[in-house]
Amino acid sequence: MKEDFPILSRQVNGRNLVYLDNAATTQKPHCVIDAMNQYYSLSNANVHRAVHTLAGEATEGYEKCRSLLKERYNASRAIITSGTTESINLVAHAWGEANLEDGDAVILTEMEHHSDIVPWQMLAERKSIELRYVPVIDGNLDMDIFDASLDGAKLVCVVHTSNVLGVRNPIEDIITKSKLAGAKVLIDAAQAVPHEEIDFEKLGADFLAFSAHKMCGPTGIGALLVSESAFEKMQPFMGGGDMIQTVSITGSTYQVNEHKFEAGTPRIAEGVGWAAALEWMSNIDLEKHHSRLINIARHVKQELVSKGMTVYSQLGEKDAAVVSFTHPSIHPEDFARLLDAQGIAVRTGHHCAQPLMERLGVSGTIRASFYIYNDEDDATTFLNGIDRVLEAMA
Ligand SMILES: Cc1ncc(COP(=O)(O)O)c(C=O)c1O
Repeated sequence: MKEDFPILSRQVNGRNLVYLDNAATTQKPHCVIDAMNQYYSLSNANVHRAVHTLAGEATEGYEKCRSLLKERYNASRAIITSGTTESINLVAHAWGEANLEDGDAVILTEMEHHSDIVPWQMLAERKSIELRYVPVIDGNLDMDIFDASLDGAKLVCVVHTSNVLGVRNPIEDIITKSKLAGAKVLIDAAQAVPHEEIDFEKLGADFLAFSAHKMCGPTGIGALLVSESAFEKMQPFMGGGDMIQTVSITGSTYQVNEHKFEAGTPRIAEGVGWAAALEWMSNIDLEKHHSRLINIARHVKQELVSKGMTVYSQLGEKDAAVVSFTHPSIHPEDFARLLDAQGIAVRTGHHCAQPLMERLGVSGTIRASFYIYNDEDDATTFLNGIDRVLEAMA
């Protein structure tokens, strides 16, 4: 597996790279890099309009990404965006503006990434909507408060799998209850799609947002899957080329399909690269890797606790292999710099989840996040690296 990823054979600070910052972004296999190179070397053109050969190849390459997304996630609508953040902002503008009225409630959770908080706070500045936050108790959503918040809610926005704790929320239960209460559901699946197979139709949510770069694809591209019933109620947000049917000086008409929400020249090379990543991922058994990685993460947690760390990730059966921790006295940033000096890449800080940090009572954590190319040797190097940090700071 590691051989498929050129970056994993490089050295950092004189040591073999051990990359454990996968929740931030994953590395790219050769086939993705090659597909993008090949696109720019041989097929580069704009999509959808021109009849020349290159334009045809570019259109085919870009639209292949959409077809693969629909197929892999069983969705009839896949809007291509710049990533999870744009996908959620698109819902706030294209659906929220048109369908939420003054006095309506939107449910969020304390566990959300900022990209699933700020767009709703901004909408609440434009409309008098009420934002209700479900608290986090012992690393899990307080489902009693969730149940009690549903009355009058028009939209439920929830992160599928936390980027800080790795906890996988009871998404199926949340969707069923929200639907019964008549609310639409938006799932932030940025950390879910890299780790488990998702069937959008079966799940029954209205919106599912995610990013290519967290699942071996390029940066700058992502998707918003939308149910037919929600799609019908969305109004175009950005105006411009490619999203229209006709334009005259008295007004315009819009495309009826996903292009209506993709104004301007899209991310063509990224679409080609993501298509290559999706094809590559189709040969990966995510479930098998998940059970392997969660065991590695649990071992790491146990060792960290025995070395005096506080570990915030519970690492339940379905959780992602993300280990967030702090040391009683060493600042997370100092910790991460000393690990980096040994070629070990981890993330530190608030992880774009400040409300969750507040709930945990910390300003930040150190986060080691494992992905399909990580193995036990990486965990051992990481734990040895921790020992060296502790020795250096003693
Ligand atoms: C849970 C979650 N939601 C949203 C995002 C935002 O993703 P992007 O920056 O690709 O838009 C991230 C990225 O870290 C994330 O982990």
